[in-house]
Amino acid sequence: VVDARTPLFGIVAHPIAHLRAPEIFNAYLAERGIDGVMVAFDVAPADLAAMLEAARRMRNLRGFCVSNPHKETILPLLDRATDAARRVGAVNIVRREADGTLTGTQGDGEGFATGLEAAGHAIAGRRIFMAGAGGAAAGIGFALAARGARTLAIHNRTAARAEALAARIRASFPACEVRAAGPEAGGHDIVVNATSAGLDPSDPLPCDLSRLAPPAVAAEVIMRPRETRFLREAAARGCAVHHGEAMAAAQMGLIAAFTGAVPAG
Ligand SMILES: NC(=O)c1ccc[n+]([C@@H]2O[C@H](COP(=O)([O-])OP(=O)(O)OC[C@H]3O[C@@H](n4cnc5c(N)ncnc54)[C@H](OP(=O)(O)O)[C@@H]3O)[C@@H](O)[C@H]2O)c1
Repeated sequence: VVDARTPLFGIVAHPIAHLRAPEIFNAYLAERGIDGVMVAFDVAPADLAAMLEAARRMRNLRGFCVSNPHKETILPLLDRATDAARRVGAVNIVRREADGTLTGTQGDGEGFATGLEAAGHAIAGRRIFMAGAGGAAAGIGFALAARGARTLAIHNRTAARAEALAARIRASFPACEVRAAGPEAGGHDIVVNATSAGLDPSDPLPCDLSRLAPPAVAAEVIMRPRETRFLREAAARGCAVHHGEAMAAAQMGLIAAFTGAVPAG
C-alpha cells in the first residue's frame, strides 16, 4: 500500500499521457517487494527550473526520470551530473541527495546496451549501424562505443546531425571507428533503429534493409507498436530481432540503483 512513508519517485515530461515508465517501474518495485511509488509530473518547459527547486525541498522524493522535452535543458539546471550525462549532453535519471541537491545521469544508452547484451547480443568487436541522431540515438551511440563496438555507422534523415554526433563520439572513444553513413544497413552485425520512425504505421523505414541478412540482428527502441515495420522487415529477411521494451526494462534496474531504491551492485 502507498502510505505516508512510501518513498516517492517521479517522471517529469510534457505531455505525459503516453509515458510507460510509471507502470513498468511500479511493477518492478512490486515484484521485488520494494517500497515506493512512481507518478508522472506534467511540467511545461518554462516551469522546469521551479519544479527542480521544489524537488530539492521535497524530503520524501528519492528521484525522478526525465523525458521529452526536458532531457537536454535539465542538464545545466542540476547541481551535478555524471560523466556519461555530460558526454551525451542529456539526463534521464535524477537522484535527490540527502542534502536536497540533484544529481543527473544518462541511462538511455546504458539501458539499451545492457538489454542487448542480456539478450545474448555482444557489442564488443561488432560492426554496428544506427539510424538516428536525436536524444535516444546520442545516448545509445556513446554507450555502444563505450562497450567496445568495433565500428559505428550513423545514418540520419538530417545528415548534418549524424555527422555532428559521429564527431562527438569519436572524440570521446577514438578506438571505435565512428562515421556518418548513408541509409544502407546491410553488411553490419547489429542494426539499430534509434529514430521515432515507426511510431506511426505510415512512417517510412529509417534505413535501407534490402541487403540485410543473417546473422545480423535488428534492434528497436520503439516500444509501441511492439512489431514495427523495421522489425518486421528484418524478420522477413531471416534476421533476429530485439524489441524496444528491452531498453526500458533494463533501465528499471538502473533507476532503482541510481536513486537508491535498491542497493547498488
Ligand atoms: N525503449 C526505450 O526505453 C526508449 C527510451 C527513450 C526513447 N525511446 C524512443 O526513441 C525514439 C527517439 O526518441 P528521441 O528522444 O531520440 O527523439 P528525438 O530526439 O526527437 O529524435 C528523433 C530521431 O528520429 C528521426 N526521425 C523522426 N521521424 C523520422 C522519419 N519519419 N524518418 C526518418 N527519421 C525520422 C529524427 O531525424 P531528424 O534528425 O532528421 O529529425 C531523429 O534522428 C522515440 O520513439 C522514443 O519513444 C525509447
